[in-house]
Amino acid sequence: MDDSRSSSSLSDFALRRIEVLSQHLEAEPTHGFSDTPRSCPARTSTQATTSGVCPVTGHRDSSKIFPRLLENRPLRVCVTGAAGQIAYSLVFMIANGDMFGPKTSIILNLLDIAPMIETLKGVEMELMDGGYPLLKEIFATTDVKSAFMNVDVVIMVGAFPRQKGMERKDLLQKNASIFREQGKALSDYASRNVKVLVVGNPANTNCLIAATYADTLPKENFTALTRLDQHRAQAQLAQKLRVPVDKIHNVIIRGNHSATQYPDANHGYVDDFPPSLKTPLRSAVNDDNWLTNGFISTVQQRGAEIIKARKSSSAASAARAIVAHMRDWLLGTPEGDIVSMGIYCDGLAYGAPKGTVYSLPVICRGGQYTIVNGLPLDEFSKKKMEVTANELIEERQEAFAFLDSQRK
Ligand SMILES: NC(=O)c1ccc[n+]([C@@H]2O[C@H](COP(=O)([O-])OP(=O)(O)OC[C@H]3O[C@@H](n4cnc5c(N)ncnc54)[C@H](O)[C@@H]3O)[C@@H](O)[C@H]2O)c1
Repeated sequence: MDDSRSSSSLSDFALRRIEVLSQHLEAEPTHGFSDTPRSCPARTSTQATTSGVCPVTGHRDSSKIFPRLLENRPLRVCVTGAAGQIAYSLVFMIANGDMFGPKTSIILNLLDIAPMIETLKGVEMELMDGGYPLLKEIFATTDVKSAFMNVDVVIMVGAFPRQKGMERKDLLQKNASIFREQGKALSDYASRNVKVLVVGNPANTNCLIAATYADTLPKENFTALTRLDQHRAQAQLAQKLRVPVDKIHNVIIRGNHSATQYPDANHGYVDDFPPSLKTPLRSAVNDDNWLTNGFISTVQQRGAEIIKARKSSSAASAARAIVAHMRDWLLGTPEGDIVSMGIYCDGLAYGAPKGTVYSLPVICRGGQYTIVNGLPLDEFSKKKMEVTANELIEERQEAFAFLDSQRK
């Protein structure tokens, strides 16, 4: 095993990589702006700077991704699985402006299946009664075509749930059909620059299927949620170090959103530890055994632990992670921060297999993510990443073999 894992140079290296990438992104042509990212206090649509970078927060805007914002028209956002538990937290956060900032008005399309129509109507009524100033229209439907018509953002939460005694393979197949149909519908009806986040499990493979069948849309417009795993990892480290969670930076989730995922703390740091100093997580924790065993397995098993305790899967924390993922993707990651996203891989980064949706470290500017490449990997990390890569390849094989068999 490479000894450099415990040295401080790794997180320094990570910070330097982000600096270089940020400079590169700053040099790219920028777009106008109509929103106020991360509560930038002085910003309105008429105050866009020529560089497109907010002078107060340093964040970029995303109006080129969503031209309708420039015309002061509301953003069209669709949540699938809108009668379910995650949605019951998520839609109210979106309506409140948590995802797109306090100046972006929204039209919310709520999609679920026909047997859930009464519950869906209940959610619609509560949204109306919430009196959200940014929420201009609510449209509850069980029709995929109308739900996706001209949408700018789609959060795909709806999925077939794992039932007692159900084989993993059956779950994969049930969802493969759903995400194929919805991918095609996105291709046919959504806005050409729609941004899609897949949450419903198996999230990475469902995302791959949707992106594949949405063949008129760019694959980089599809991502899968691993932000909840990132938050879980940050929480474990914060608890271990007895610091507030916002002091923990740049923990990376690699691979699949499943028990094979690899939470990688090697490039992270803890802020103000000691006061005014940044310390690499490995040296701050100073417990390699915990980092390579307890930490990783706790994060991998956290979802199952919550189901055991709550008799229901994580919902409010998932909703919060969805908001953070979309907000960072569209409005930009904070300066110096790496976040994790499941993204479509070209096979060139960190051995993530080509043609899978694999979670990698990214930074975001102008509605685009860029992989933070070149962070050194030790043998331990490489092995963990291979395990999760193999699982994704297997899932892909099973899902597409099933979809192909249906065409015959
Ligand atoms: N990626 C992550 O980090 C993460 C975290 C938590 C949960 N999840 C997954 O998110 C999904 C939703 O979780 P939940 O707790 O809200 O589940 P839930 O069962 O409470 O809600 C799911 C909703 O999706 C609907 N649905 C099913 N098929 C649909 C379809 N074809 N079109 C539209 N809607 C459909 C269901 O009717 C239901 O209302 C699950 O697959 C869960 O495993 C992922």
